[in-house]
Amino acid sequence: MGALMESADQNNIVLELKNINKSYNENRVHRGISFKVRKGECLGLLGGSGTGKSVLLRSIIGLEYIDSGEILFHKNRIDTLSEKELLKLRLTISYSFQSGALFDSINVYENLAYPLYEHTGHSDKEIADKIKNMLKLIGLEGKENIMPSDLSGGMQKRVGMARAMIMNPDLVLYDEPTAGLDPVNTLNVIDLMAKFKTDGRSAIFVTHDIPAAVKLCDRIAIIDEGKIFFEDTVDKFKNSNDPLVKKFMVNTGI
Ligand SMILES: Nc1ncnc2c1ncn2[C@@H]1O[C@H](COP(=O)(O)OP(=O)(O)OP(=O)(O)O)[C@@H](O)[C@H]1O
Ligand SMILES: [Mg+2]
Repeated sequence: MGALMESADQNNIVLELKNINKSYNENRVHRGISFKVRKGECLGLLGGSGTGKSVLLRSIIGLEYIDSGEILFHKNRIDTLSEKELLKLRLTISYSFQSGALFDSINVYENLAYPLYEHTGHSDKEIADKIKNMLKLIGLEGKENIMPSDLSGGMQKRVGMARAMIMNPDLVLYDEPTAGLDPVNTLNVIDLMAKFKTDGRSAIFVTHDIPAAVKLCDRIAIIDEGKIFFEDTVDKFKNSNDPLVKKFMVNTGI
């Protein structure tokens, strides 16, 4: 790469992880994780159960402390932010939890409205319109007044995703958004993620759903034994001869 191209590439980097280490007592979960996410890019993050994908996403938004390394968002360190600064950061980086993580005591509308009332100057009407559109996008039109406990797991998940997207963050971290969904809802969710991506927004997509990752992502990274074992384009991923990479393709029709 020429120096000019390299610096243009540097400007495109939204998130950079540099040599992240994280242990829970003897359990060395991350042993030098490094990767970058560029503007408008979806990075698929794969790895077996317990390899530290969720911990990594939680570390990015400051719900976990890393032991060493650096996390940069638009070139600024975010692993050293105060709680107050983290609250602000979570408006531009949002995390769609592995579970829906909705507030149980308030209805769907209030769950979605909460961040808008808290952090924008939108009028009631603007908020209502935004929520109506969002519910339509996730296939839950008219469900404003339903309580989270009266929704199926798949529906709760979609509302959780909607809540992560409603503030139009620069970067969304999706933790297994399609897990436990039926095929139709899986397509709905992927569709929603694809729409979000066309806005030039970036994402990390943690999933065991390889066809979904291949469909949506630009690049794939695989965590194994605390390190990024593979990081490349979806094409290189699909055509890799590495036995560990190929293991992810078993029974997926790829
Ligand atoms: N708060 C915690 N305290 C102690 N250990 C933890 C904590 N959170 C996670 N771990 C451990 O860190 C490791 C990575 O967990 P993590 O949830 O990130 O895995 P994962 O890759 O997301 O797995 P899955 O695909 O099953 O969701 C596991 O060994 C887990 O037991
Ligand atoms: Mg997980």
